Amino acid sequence: MQNNTTIDHGTADFLAESRKRRTFAVISHPDAGKSTLTEAMALHARIVDEAGVTHGKASRHATLSDWNDVERERGISISSSALRIEYRDTVINLLDTPGHSDFSEDTYRVLMAVDFTVMLIDAAKGMEPQTRKLFDACRRLSLPVITVINKCDRPGKEPLELFDEIQEATGRTPVAVNWPVGGYGAFHGLVTPGSDAYIHHRPVRAGAQLAHEEVAAGATDSRLDPGGWPEASENALLARELNGSFDDDDFIACRQTPVFFAAASGNLGVRALLDFITTSAPSPAPRRDLSGAPRPIDDEFSGFVFKVQSGTDAAHRDQVALVRINSGTFERGMTLRHAQSGRALNAKYAHHLVGRGRATATRSYPGDIVGFVNATGLRIGDTLYAGKRVEFPPMPRFNPERFRVIRLTDASHQKRFAKGIAQLEADGTVQVFRTQDGSPRGPVLGAVGDLQFEVARERLLREFGVETAYDDLLPFSLSRPLRGPGAEGITEVFGTDLLYRPDGEPVGLFRDRWKLERALERMPGIFAS
Ligand code: G4P
Repeated sequence: MQNNTTIDHGTADFLAESRKRRTFAVISHPDAGKSTLTEAMALHARIVDEAGVTHGKASRHATLSDWNDVERERGISISSSALRIEYRDTVINLLDTPGHSDFSEDTYRVLMAVDFTVMLIDAAKGMEPQTRKLFDACRRLSLPVITVINKCDRPGKEPLELFDEIQEATGRTPVAVNWPVGGYGAFHGLVTPGSDAYIHHRPVRAGAQLAHEEVAAGATDSRLDPGGWPEASENALLARELNGSFDDDDFIACRQTPVFFAAASGNLGVRALLDFITTSAPSPAPRRDLSGAPRPIDDEFSGFVFKVQSGTDAAHRDQVALVRINSGTFERGMTLRHAQSGRALNAKYAHHLVGRGRATATRSYPGDIVGFVNATGLRIGDTLYAGKRVEFPPMPRFNPERFRVIRLTDASHQKRFAKGIAQLEADGTVQVFRTQDGSPRGPVLGAVGDLQFEVARERLLREFGVETAYDDLLPFSLSRPLRGPGAEGITEVFGTDLLYRPDGEPVGLFRDRWKLERALERMPGIFAS
């Protein structure tokens, strides 16, 4: 077994391994093609057999990254999973995010674990509400964003119009890395601005196989559509004149977003995107600990939990804490320490997720995601480390906007109910509160969106075997953390209420924005900063 105080990873190999990592999430407004692109990337990296990647929502959603019963039934992606795929010489850690806005808190936590994002935009729809929110989250987290304009095989908005929308909504300058040849509806290739080279695509039926790609000299190759290339080439140059060329520093500093064109369902443009990710997207960099000091990636092992996932599939009805490695080498079997409790944790049961299965994690590097199976006591945001103690900042909690009392319908299952509620709190499915009088009817659950309540109830039934029911929504639409003493005074303002988190932290509930403003005016001192 590895002695965790004498890990030797300060070698050129260690740094080379870290530089090979690309850890990112594909994000988008629902239906822009996130699942389709994820599968197309996996197909290019050949981690799933061709038969496994079938096109069509029902089958596709049951294959790769969506695995929770609730989401399978509803056809939406709720949980996040981490896929490890290899493309050329690069190890890609692809983190999936829930598409639905009701799970934006979960998405935010995943974004805290990545080094950049790939933002998909539907060519026909342009910037949608969730696209804007996600760009905003990336701005707050200083995450570089690669933009992919998807569904170019269908009629859509003019690319330059989309560029204006992106610039206006995000403040990042979109720069074209490639440009579609043939235009929407007749998309059959990509050209690089300022270059004669033309990647000609012959799409394949149903997207289950790689698209046939041929690199041609655009201006001279007579086999190609004669009209498409010159026009695309001219437009690509125009875009470059307007917005400039790709610049590494501007990309990393979030001043630019490189733009790709693709049709994920036909696997068109996916290779160009992957090639760019391997050559130009950032590898893991030092992350700041709680004191604000950057943790060098070649320091001893450290990482943090960004997701706790339960009931992952029928064959593995267990709980997995997903940890993003920030520094050092992870060795299977090494002894780690849990910063929050001080407890030692033996990392015997750790794995990566590969396609639909799992592979045992033996050696992992910064940027990698390791799943710890049934490591009870690990909560979202917790730090694991080896050697000298380090702690990373906690995950920010969203202020819930929906509140409901959840009741147990069969009183004999009190213990299991309490256990289930504690689990839902720990893995961030919902936030849990008690009332001032101790919640005799049942705890209050807080959520950003109603689907969270549905998932919570479903999980209590499936994983803990308890039937529950909700009371009506409480009449509050905003909440803010408070600090005592004097927090109880909040209830003097009409249209407010007070709840407590399990750790005793008081939280104020407000009927609407005006009630919140009123309370802020009257007692600013009780609001936590
Ligand atoms: P999401 O995860 O972002 O929610 O999107 P998802 O991949 O499920 O894709 C949403 C719909 O868009 C799917 O169609 C999918 O096939 C389609 N789609 C994705 N990429 C492309 C593309 O490049 N071109 C075209 N034309 N369509 C694309 P669906 O109607 O929900 O299902 P089905 O068509 O697969 O039956």
